[in-house]
Amino acid sequence: MHFEYTEEHLAVRDAARDFAKSELLSGVIERDTEARFPYEQIKMMGELGFMGMMVDPKYNGGGMDTISYVIAMEEISKIDASASVSMSVNNSLVCWGLEKYGSEAQKEKYLKKLATGEVIGAFCLSEPEAGSDATSQKTTAEKSGDHYILNGTKNWITNGNTASVYLVIAQTNPEKGHKGISAFIVEKEWEGFVIGKKEDKLGIRGSDTHSLMFSDVKVPAENMIGEEGFGFRFAMETLNGGRIGIAAQALGIASGAYELALAYSKERKAFGKPISQHQAIQFKLADMATQIEAARLLVYKSAWLKDQGKDYSDASAMAKLYASEVAMNVTVEAIQVHGGYGYVKEYHVERLMRDAKITQIYEGTSEIQKIVISRSILS
Ligand code: CAA
Repeated sequence: MHFEYTEEHLAVRDAARDFAKSELLSGVIERDTEARFPYEQIKMMGELGFMGMMVDPKYNGGGMDTISYVIAMEEISKIDASASVSMSVNNSLVCWGLEKYGSEAQKEKYLKKLATGEVIGAFCLSEPEAGSDATSQKTTAEKSGDHYILNGTKNWITNGNTASVYLVIAQTNPEKGHKGISAFIVEKEWEGFVIGKKEDKLGIRGSDTHSLMFSDVKVPAENMIGEEGFGFRFAMETLNGGRIGIAAQALGIASGAYELALAYSKERKAFGKPISQHQAIQFKLADMATQIEAARLLVYKSAWLKDQGKDYSDASAMAKLYASEVAMNVTVEAIQVHGGYGYVKEYHVERLMRDAKITQIYEGTSEIQKIVISRSILS
């Protein structure tokens, strides 16, 4: 058992850290206030290889392991969780799903561009009445000759307007329940595909979250991923890995807030000494550091299991469940350490607290993670 970073991991960490500090930090408050997507920065992240980190180099990816990916996710998320959710969806949900289950033609046509960030992808499972209960898909795809006709609405889609390539889950055979669900690759420009309203969110406000409407969209049969009926399994397996990315995002939000609180506590004086010299603050810092380290171990363990080709569905649910709780706890405490300054935008921690909340909701709420974990324990 090794608890040490490799040279490559340290290089990835330094590259992501430098990028986040030099390119994401300035402007992050304005983007949050104005709910503005970090277009330029995401383009640069593509050029630096952060948008397809684990994809095989033969499809233009970085060929890196999942540990490198979570290290980069943590560093980017410390500064800008809106940029990191875009990165996470592109890497974990879109590129991974296509590389693992796409046909060679699909990989050539779509994955190669997604892996470089030349185009951005979105993963479309949630619907107005199918969030946690993902088997209740109402979107339909009806076979018609060499096409499927797609109809329905998707909700809460990250990269909703920024994306050009959408992995869409839809019912192809309602009588079969979840075994009648299939997955398709859909292009933005196709007739009948309408980008709906942009959500005005509490946190990750720089990310681009939309509803999507499909009205008789003609999807070529060759754009189905896997075979008919494979879509639910595809979505579940993809989300198992996606949860590692969101756990890493939560870890980054927590460690970003902790680092700010630590630095502030050494500068801010009260009752004649830096507040870091008061035990009330020291205990908070100790609790934050301990929780973050425990979350990091869970995140790394789930990434390691994935890299070893072992089952990681429970480990990723545990990592996401715990890291997202830590993100909430730590960001709230970071505000407390900052006192009144923590409540204003300039000090970043209030944004990190707002960003933390979504990590307990998307890619499965905390309750969904507990369902996944408890079913495994009891099986
Ligand atoms: N991994 C692999 N397969 C799984 C799985 C997992 N984690 N969980 C379930 N499955 C499989 C089951 O084995 C079963 O397959 P078979 O019938 O072939 O045996 C099938 O899926 C159905 O499973 P269940 O009977 O357990 O279905 P359920 O309805 O009782 O519960 C659930 C399933 C775990 C609750 C699932 O619906 C779920 O994960 N819901 C949450 C969905 C979610 O995370 N949505 C997030 C949206 S994406 C997003 O947020 C992205 C973004 O933009 C940031």
